[in-house]
Amino acid sequence: MALPDRKIAVIGLGYVGLPLAALCARRGYPVVGLDSSERVVASLGAGKCHIRDAAVEKMVADALETGNLAATSDAARIADCNVFLVCVPTPVDADNDPDLGPLEGACRTIGPHLKSGDLIVIESTVFPGTCEQVVAPLLREFSGLEPGADFHLAHCPERINPGDPFWHSGNIPRVLGALPGAGIDIAAEFYASILGGDILDVREVKQSLRPKFRETAEGLHISQVPLGSVTKMRSIRDAEAVKAMENTVRDVNIAFVNELAKISDVLELDVVDIIDGMATKPFGKGPFYPGAGVGGHCIAVDPEWLKAASKRAGYFPEMIQLARTINNGMPEYTVSVLQDLLNERGYPIKGTRIAILGTAYKRNVDDLRESPFFKLRDILDKKGAEISVFDSWVTSQNTVGSVDECIQEAKAIVIVTEHSDLIEQLSRIELSNSGVEVIVDGRNCLEGEEILKQDIAYRGIGR
Ligand SMILES: NC(=O)c1ccc[n+]([C@@H]2O[C@H](COP(=O)([O-])OP(=O)(O)OC[C@H]3O[C@@H](n4cnc5c(N)ncnc54)[C@H](O)[C@@H]3O)[C@@H](O)[C@H]2O)c1
Repeated sequence: MALPDRKIAVIGLGYVGLPLAALCARRGYPVVGLDSSERVVASLGAGKCHIRDAAVEKMVADALETGNLAATSDAARIADCNVFLVCVPTPVDADNDPDLGPLEGACRTIGPHLKSGDLIVIESTVFPGTCEQVVAPLLREFSGLEPGADFHLAHCPERINPGDPFWHSGNIPRVLGALPGAGIDIAAEFYASILGGDILDVREVKQSLRPKFRETAEGLHISQVPLGSVTKMRSIRDAEAVKAMENTVRDVNIAFVNELAKISDVLELDVVDIIDGMATKPFGKGPFYPGAGVGGHCIAVDPEWLKAASKRAGYFPEMIQLARTINNGMPEYTVSVLQDLLNERGYPIKGTRIAILGTAYKRNVDDLRESPFFKLRDILDKKGAEISVFDSWVTSQNTVGSVDECIQEAKAIVIVTEHSDLIEQLSRIELSNSGVEVIVDGRNCLEGEEILKQDIAYRGIGR
């Protein structure tokens, strides 16, 4: 249901902005759609939808019928709006550098009309940092107001999938970030009013949905997040990064299946049949999380077999090689994170006791094959660390008999395997009195903020 006294300006009426403007109008908001293209405005003025998409055409027709939606290229018409949704293009130039022109243009247009308490949301896709480094300064300059204090600046990247008969602007779950202040809640309330779904916190997604993915539905390409929900991210940069990274994950995966096509050509296989066969596996397709390394007899080995076969047949698969190189390098990366944290606390690796928790290649198994533990331990050993090791599932590499013993006199803990019982045992120890000053969470399984509160330096992998 529409919130009272809100008038919406949608800047840019293309694939993203037009259905959004129509959605807002259908929810009862008065909407001014501002587009720099006379063609777009004239077409909408004549009651026509310039986008060829049956679902969008219907939405726009319904919205125009409400009388709530007006299109214009006259910027003065947005003067009495108090919610500004920016949906302008964010292309790359001839050198593949981000072209900020349309976004900067939209900020210059909106700035003079901003008033205290207004909400401005960037829906266009931008790289992490754009809202703080490009949008906020321009809005400050052209409005004379302070972003985050006088008006609210949020980012809610659109995820529409043109041509998709099921997912549309009205039901796709969104993520939202805002400048510090009340903006996140004000923006979330607005999106809930047009999408009709729940407002979630990204911490709830982690705690309540991630275990479901892991233990019961890992890899099913079904979002467990309710339709039309809005998930609040911890910062505006996080929201920007969600969009940039989710599309990059897709691009990298598409590049990889293109590589599989090349492998299939040299091995005389039908890649489409193979992808359809692969699609029958109900788990293991994501979400994926980074960590201290990839082990086991399958993931760390099978790509090498495929690479060898393809290479012999005449095609060297670069992405497989790159993936192996990156994954094989994670123990080194984990040690470099440890070294940084120990440095901060004034300890050298040489002669410092480091507790390694977990040796198995993955949680809740007793299998050591290809485990990143070995590489990590060898690197620390070469650097002269005093190492103690404990795993609750596989004991052959243990130097001690319990988690308590393992961390005795240790300055740092490195988690290599997040066995449930091992993490449970660790959680029962009062770390603030243990002498441990550094934790490197190689499986991103601990609550980092809780650890930091105990004056222990904490880092995960990528967090
Ligand atoms: N198209 C998609 O499937 C899709 C999906 C998700 C996100 N996005 C992102 O959404 C943004 C918009 O993409 P799109 O596909 O809707 O673009 P589009 O080109 O279809 O539409 C953009 C509209 O903005 C207008 N415009 C440009 N500069 C303007 C300005 N300064 N003031 C007013 N109007 C202006 C253009 O005339 C055009 O009608 C981009 O950042 C894109 O990456 C697109």
